[in-house]
Amino acid sequence: MSRLDSFIRRLEAQRRILDWAAAGIAGRPGLVLELGLGNGRTYDHLRELLPDREIHVFERDVSPNPASMPPAGLLVEGDMATTLPAFAARHGRSAALVHVDVTTGVPERDRILFAWLPEHVAALAAPDALVLSGWDLAHPALVAIPLPDGVPAGRYYAYRRAG
Ligand SMILES: C[S@@+](CC[C@H](N)C(=O)[O-])C[C@H]1O[C@@H](n2cnc3c(N)ncnc32)[C@H](O)[C@@H]1O
Repeated sequence: MSRLDSFIRRLEAQRRILDWAAAGIAGRPGLVLELGLGNGRTYDHLRELLPDREIHVFERDVSPNPASMPPAGLLVEGDMATTLPAFAARHGRSAALVHVDVTTGVPERDRILFAWLPEHVAALAAPDALVLSGWDLAHPALVAIPLPDGVPAGRYYAYRRAG
């Protein structure tokens, strides 16, 4: 598969899993956390799906498409290794949905480079929260759950936060 095909499939999987997750948290209170603003595409999709939710966005190099700039109060600038634990200290386990879109594009590299991240995600996810990631998050409190139809195994990962 060419990298272009792979990229298109990744975006299709992202849209499908975000649609599924937005429906899955209906009726559950809680924040939505977008880890990795980048161009702002998935943030823009989430805010369209969830107009009444507080969506907090974490990013160290803030330069999205201007149409996808989060409001100042909902943008957490800086390295997530620092900003996620600081946010957890203020808000606790308050997230109904966490979307982890911090990636180099190479899952094997991500697991090593971002080995510190699953712990912070677990510390922010409310009981039963949904956690989505483009690479597998190894943490005992994040329990893998089946993916929605149309999202191939290994393309995306979905978890529920235990207890
Ligand atoms: C794949 S991009 C996000 C794409 C975005 N969700 C979209 O749909 O346009 C990953 C982003 O994570 C950010 N990032 C990577 N490591 C980070 C860290 N340690 N702290 C904060 N941001 C980080 C990068 O700057 C990059 O913008």
